[in-house]
Amino acid sequence: MKDIQPPHLDQARVRKSFCRGLGSYHGAASVQADIASRLAEMLQAEGAPRRFTSVLEFGCGTGHLTRQLLQRFEAGSLVLNDLVPEAAQVLKALEGIAPEQARFAGGPIENLPLPQDLDLIASASTVQWIPDLQALFCRLADRLKPGGWLALSGFGRGQFHELAALGSAAAAPSYLDADEWMAVLPKDTEILQVAQRPVKLEFGTALELLKHLRQTGVNGHAQQSWSRRRLQEFENAYRERFGRNGKLPLTYDPVLIVARKSG
Ligand SMILES: C[S@@+](CC[C@H](N)C(=O)[O-])C[C@H]1O[C@@H](n2cnc3c(N)ncnc32)[C@H](O)[C@@H]1O
Repeated sequence: MKDIQPPHLDQARVRKSFCRGLGSYHGAASVQADIASRLAEMLQAEGAPRRFTSVLEFGCGTGHLTRQLLQRFEAGSLVLNDLVPEAAQVLKALEGIAPEQARFAGGPIENLPLPQDLDLIASASTVQWIPDLQALFCRLADRLKPGGWLALSGFGRGQFHELAALGSAAAAPSYLDADEWMAVLPKDTEILQVAQRPVKLEFGTALELLKHLRQTGVNGHAQQSWSRRRLQEFENAYRERFGRNGKLPLTYDPVLIVARKSG
């Protein structure tokens, strides 16, 4: 990673923001839904076994990735984690497809007591919220069996670059490009595939764009107050710098990784 000191993060604000967006997230987060499906496909394409004995997914949210994984793989046991305790409701939504041995464990993954002998650790669209990824993956890889799998997605440095250019403080602390992941994962893990491909959404107005950020909870690090005047100024500046055919583009920069611990 380029930054030596892990960047600061107000995790209580991130939790509040995702908790507030929980009801609207599943329908609004179309980019994350697509990422989850691509990540599960990539894991399958890299030759992961049809059945895992013990799976951990962190940052499960409303279960976009969980569903995609359970459609393609069997899991003997499954621990689902999210920072937001209310995300436990995902277990209800997964009734019928989750294994009997599925449980939810709330709180930051950084401090979660971890199961032993995992053979898959998965996470989609969450690692960008973890300030010290090296420390986290050192701990996680330690619980992975030899030959165990990692299926991860985060976002690269181009994530929401329009907002960053306009001075927004909404950025998550750990945006990493594809080529930076090798330095983050422990030496005994091999990256089998990594893909980074930006996706642009378009909005008619700044208000619609901000509503999208709010509904998906992804602006967890931003201040919330917008006066009418500030909103107008923001929209004018956005149009002037980035407007295309009357629309306001917003760039997502997903990075997908499938890796394996040495056998
Ligand atoms: C953008 S959502 C992704 C949800 C789901 N994985 C998906 O693909 O739709 C990010 C999730 O990560 C969770 N999260 C953020 N920081 C976390 C942390 N330190 N530990 C566990 N979960 C975290 C948030 O609460 C949120 O539900």
